[in-house]
Amino acid sequence: MTVAALIVAAGRGERVGGELPKQYRAVAGQPLLRWSVAAFAAHPSIDRVRVVIRPEDRPHYDRSTAGLSLLAPVDGGATRCESVRRGLESLADDPPDRVLIHDGARPFVTAGLIERCLAALAEAPGAIAAIPLADSLKRGANGRVVAALDRTGLWRAQTPQAFRYSDILAAHRAAAGLGDEAALSDDAAIAERAGIEVRLVPGDEDNLKVTTPADLRRAERFLAGRAGEIRVGHGFDVHRFAPGRPLVLCGVTIPGETGLAGHSDADVALHALTDAILGALAEGDIGDHFPPTDPAWADAPSERFLGRAAEMVRGRGGAVVNVDVTVVCERPKLAPHREAMRRRIAEILDLALDRVSVKATTTERLGFTGRGEGIAAQATAGVRLPG
Ligand code: CTP
Ligand code: MG
Repeated sequence: MTVAALIVAAGRGERVGGELPKQYRAVAGQPLLRWSVAAFAAHPSIDRVRVVIRPEDRPHYDRSTAGLSLLAPVDGGATRCESVRRGLESLADDPPDRVLIHDGARPFVTAGLIERCLAALAEAPGAIAAIPLADSLKRGANGRVVAALDRTGLWRAQTPQAFRYSDILAAHRAAAGLGDEAALSDDAAIAERAGIEVRLVPGDEDNLKVTTPADLRRAERFLAGRAGEIRVGHGFDVHRFAPGRPLVLCGVTIPGETGLAGHSDADVALHALTDAILGALAEGDIGDHFPPTDPAWADAPSERFLGRAAEMVRGRGGAVVNVDVTVVCERPKLAPHREAMRRRIAEILDLALDRVSVKATTTERLGFTGRGEGIAAQATAGVRLPG
């Protein structure tokens, strides 16, 4: 059974206003749309994800979804309903069994919500996330209550809305034929008109649709509070001196100094730092990931190991927060090279310079570093991961 997610993001976000449509505005450091899309892209039950966009938003879309594994986006239409229909049609060549339709402007969809919709779909042809009304309902006119309404049996419909693909495609086609589908505000309404039974699945109060500027601020507060956890990792490495080789530390070649023995550039500092990041992820060590016996890594410069470790962090939806490296040696004196080393690490990790620290110390002529037999390095890395 294949399951597709269709995420509609072809609106203009007029009620939020501003130059950039709301779905591309940054919320807690990431475009709103990325939060919505990533939840589906990361879900094990979802096989493919397609986003429906306005063609002129393509550069914003590309920036917002970089690195996520998605089908190519398709163009939406003048109404949400038309955008959904176009999205459904775009899946028709290789039709999925089931489809979850979701508003790109709802960034807080959870794995649990996705699972509840899919589980209900096993028993009914349609299922939507919804919340029973809790507040009293009034009809108002000219700022006055004119009637109290009974809220019994009333629900607020959210997305995802999940359907058997062929059913909902047929229902949308039929609605388009009637020509008044713009009046139907969600896919459950389209389904209902086609006689498809739609189950109500408990939604989530947090699964808000960003509609107004106040919602954008609420989303910001919510996501900032959900920032996840900060982890710390530690790394340590030692290489002995090997005359005749260049000395590379923190990705910087230090001219006129004795180099270190080891594969590739033997950059002891970047090895320690790579291990620190892998440590924060509890992902083993540098030897597990970059064995020198593997031709892909044999003699690769150490900055590739570090870059790959940073990619692993991003792949888990996280970010490296800061790094701190201490190089232990009697010589060379590293003070003149420290700034270049910090800059190089900041570049490799795509971090601001004030999040990168490089320090150097001696061991007062004690031990192997004191005797000038080699160089040791220690590193710590702070990593933020989603909660
Ligand atoms: N949508 C769409 N195509 C449209 C209109 C809306 O794909 N022609 C999408 C929006 O991008 C959003 C979802 O449908 O993810 C819900 O719509 P809404 O919250 O109304 O967003 P906008 O239409 O963008 O906002 P506004 O109505 O304020 O302009
Ligand atoms: Mg709209």
